[in-house]
Amino acid sequence: MTVPKSEYLSNAWADGIFANRVLFITGGAGTIGSAQTRALVHLGADACIIGRSVEKTEKAAAEIAKVRPGARVLGIGGVDVRSFDALKAAADRCVQELGSIDYVVAGAAGNFIAPLSGLSTNAFKTVMDIDAIGTFNTLKATVPHLVASSRRTRSSAAPGGRFVAVSATFHYTGMPLQSHVSAAKAAVDSIIASAALEYGPLGLTANCVAPGAIEGTEGMERLASSLVTREERGKGIPSGRWGTVRDIADATVFLMSDAGSYVNGTTLVVDGAGWRRQGGL
Ligand code: HXC
Repeated sequence: MTVPKSEYLSNAWADGIFANRVLFITGGAGTIGSAQTRALVHLGADACIIGRSVEKTEKAAAEIAKVRPGARVLGIGGVDVRSFDALKAAADRCVQELGSIDYVVAGAAGNFIAPLSGLSTNAFKTVMDIDAIGTFNTLKATVPHLVASSRRTRSSAAPGGRFVAVSATFHYTGMPLQSHVSAAKAAVDSIIASAALEYGPLGLTANCVAPGAIEGTEGMERLASSLVTREERGKGIPSGRWGTVRDIADATVFLMSDAGSYVNGTTLVVDGAGWRRQGGL
């Protein structure tokens, strides 16, 4: 199935801006991750997508490669972000097969809807492990490659050494049924802040993109169906609608682009001002 460009990228960007660069993304076969990958690949990058399911990851890689003739998209399945060793092996393979890692998206996440009273210690820890430890592992496994990329490409039109974590806005206010995810994403924001301070002097940037309510995502569909009806969706959001995966892909492209060079250690919230209405949906 060919996905029309207008669904994953606006017209703000020029073809080829990421030529000879490589994206490494965890959760790249997911709804948001595949749009982020499509956008960078469309603009010239090659990509390596990491996932737990071999079949889903390889299938997504083959689909995404179709967005640009000549694009190389490697799908490495069977990798759980809770394992540093598995991530390191995947990062090394990416560099061996595609030549470098210039941009990283830590997008793998775990989510289910449960009240505090319905969470076992292991349930809470599972989401902390996937989201927070997974982001740490992804950073640790790719940072040597990002440092090398930054050194090599610093004065080019497409500087590498960019790390983007997919966060959320729940922890700004708290969110019912999402205490585990809120805690994990707060940790993700904190890891990114420290990474920006430690690696900024080496030419890297580390930022978060925080999506609000995004149409079609697994987690949001599950959460929203327990909180608002389909007709009510977007009514509580100042911008009047739920976001799209394209909104998140465009924000990611900005942070990876030359235009985002001086944006470091921050979170780009892409939520139509939803969280300012206390998590309005
Ligand atoms: C309460 C639950 C639960 C539920 C699982 N658990 N589901 N507890 N309510 N609905 C508990 C289990 O009972 C177990 O605790 C512990 O969590 C671990 O469960 P496992 O199934 O063994 O874990 P695992 O196989 O590692 O799977 C991880 C997972 C799963 C997070 C539970 O849902 C998953 O793989 N998700 C990945 C895909 C995904 O969720 N994508 C959406 C991301 S969206 P006990 O005590 O019994 O051992 C996203 C955006 C958030 O993150 C923003 C939008 C809402």
